[in-house]
Amino acid sequence: MAVIAVANAKGGSGKTTTVALLATELARSGAEVVVLDCDPLGLAADWASRCGPDSRITAVTDITPGTLADHLRRLNRPDRHIIADLSAARDTLMAMALGLCDLALIPVQGSALDARGAIQVLELIQCIEANARAHINRAIVLSRVNPLVATRSLRTVRDLLLLRGMAMIETPVVERGAFREMFERSGTLYTLDAGQVRNLDRAQANMQALARDVMARIERGGRDAHGPFAQLCYQHGIATDEPCANDDEPSRQRVKGA
Ligand SMILES: Nc1ncnc2c1ncn2[C@@H]1O[C@H](COP(=O)(O)OP(=O)(O)O)[C@@H](O)[C@H]1O
Ligand SMILES: [Mg+2]
Repeated sequence: MAVIAVANAKGGSGKTTTVALLATELARSGAEVVVLDCDPLGLAADWASRCGPDSRITAVTDITPGTLADHLRRLNRPDRHIIADLSAARDTLMAMALGLCDLALIPVQGSALDARGAIQVLELIQCIEANARAHINRAIVLSRVNPLVATRSLRTVRDLLLLRGMAMIETPVVERGAFREMFERSGTLYTLDAGQVRNLDRAQANMQALARDVMARIERGGRDAHGPFAQLCYQHGIATDEPCANDDEPSRQRVKGA
């Protein structure tokens, strides 16, 4: 099981899009995926609820700092991945998710505002690390990148973040109409009609490369990559690779729109 928290203190940086792409691709590889929608807007859960039962993607909403660890304990299963879609609020819920995840993924568009939002998340991560004396696996993912040219602002932002020592996922999320259309229609990028959506094959290839790089980043971190709060989360008799005995299904009542 991998827990991925997608965060940026700037709205519109591509968090929910990144969550949907990773969920789609990880589910296609055979895992169950649960989207923990930590944003009161509930857009990720709304998308997940329209993916259908065959997609292996479900969502949980109404998450609070007090219930996040309980959800992770309950959902803990080796063949399941959890992706938390955070709001832009730099609050306790974001701190909890960053402290519990195996990878904090920070989407950044080529804009100074997004870079500032990313740096705010980085500062929160560093604060948690200093207090917990532990490391949090984190990486930037460039989002909404023009597929034809690297703009000057994108290069500036990338260099600024690299200067701050931030790791970067090699595959950026390219600007694609398909990545907007998947929110307008029901289903995933694998069920959209290629005749109606331009460059669907390229969008799928981009999503596959992204998921590969993200999982490689988590694996490189090894088991020690679990965030500093993970030990607290799982210490009550549930080993990280053991499923919960009875209560391991995502709560259907909480699946928005289901
Ligand atoms: N790679 C992309 N290609 C096309 N549109 C995108 C892409 N990434 C984000 N968008 C669009 O940008 C807007 C903000 O993205 P979103 O993922 O909702 O950001 P956040 O969750 O950080 O607020 C949405 O309208 C979304 O459809
Ligand atoms: Mg969002």
